Amino acid sequence: MTDSLGTMEDLPEDYRAAMQAAGVAPLWPMMRNVLPHGAPAPVTQTGHWTYASVRPLLLQAGELTPVEKAERRVLVLSDPGRGTGAMQATSTIYLGMQLLLPGETAPAHMHTPSAARIIVEGSGAFTVVDGERLPMEEGDLVLTPGGEWHDHGHDGEAPVIWLDALDLPLFVYLEGSYAVEGDLQAQRNRPDASQVEYLSAGLAPSRSTSRPRRYPMIRYPWQRTEAALREMARFGDADLPELDYVNPETGADVLPTMGFTAMMLPEGSTSAPPRRSCSSAFHVVRGRGRTRIDGKTVEWGEKDTFSVPVFAVVEHEADTEAFLVRVHDRPLQEKLGYYEERAR
Ligand SMILES: [Fe+2]
Repeated sequence: MTDSLGTMEDLPEDYRAAMQAAGVAPLWPMMRNVLPHGAPAPVTQTGHWTYASVRPLLLQAGELTPVEKAERRVLVLSDPGRGTGAMQATSTIYLGMQLLLPGETAPAHMHTPSAARIIVEGSGAFTVVDGERLPMEEGDLVLTPGGEWHDHGHDGEAPVIWLDALDLPLFVYLEGSYAVEGDLQAQRNRPDASQVEYLSAGLAPSRSTSRPRRYPMIRYPWQRTEAALREMARFGDADLPELDYVNPETGADVLPTMGFTAMMLPEGSTSAPPRRSCSSAFHVVRGRGRTRIDGKTVEWGEKDTFSVPVFAVVEHEADTEAFLVRVHDRPLQEKLGYYEERAR
């Protein structure tokens, strides 16, 4: 191992010109850019998007641009490390705040990237995935896995806002991102699978019935997540109640590349998780507190969103009882045989 690799300037001018003409470049001057020592050197920087600043802009977008002209009325949460306008919050995770007004519909489409949404505000909106009508209530997690048709509608009285999380940056990098548009879907006249087949944890439809879909449960109602976290806080062994969202048939993460983890921080509690190789974004469902991320403090409140780069040193502190959902790319890293956690 050496830190004294040759530089571009060490090389004669005519040699550099000849390399350029041949369409090649020397690795050694750039080696440490792509293979730094010991740990990655992330481009991503911690972002903090307060709901107080995003909400009015989103409502204004509702006045400025009819949904027909926007298709999806979204403000993208740009990674400060890549600058405003960056279509990503971390290397693999795209985040956007979406607004749907009463009576509006967002037309049906499908795309290669997978998405999930966390409902931030409002009531009465719904997503239709593969004909299944999924209510969108505050805190619910609703999946739209890659390749699945989805559209949105809103029968309620007030604006609905949700946070979209997609593995879009990864698909853009793979040159694999595209969408197909279609007509609004016919809706099956029955409640979604979270209210029927998968009403209780540990119970799944009998194996003797038809084969489960690849994504059998699309909606994860917040009410049940919060209730489970509260019981874990009362009786669980873990220091910090945390629940991963999983496919109820396989136990695997809900989407191929993105994971979702709900956590509860009791009032006055602190938490110091290990350093993780995955990138993360936290959405505050409820509560107030602060998180130190590599020495930088984010003072968060209800419905705020903030991001955490890979291998960051993280410390949470809750002023009130708080519930957060962490979006992360651990499932992708595990599939690559790479995910790691390090002691602080
Ligand atoms: Fe979509």
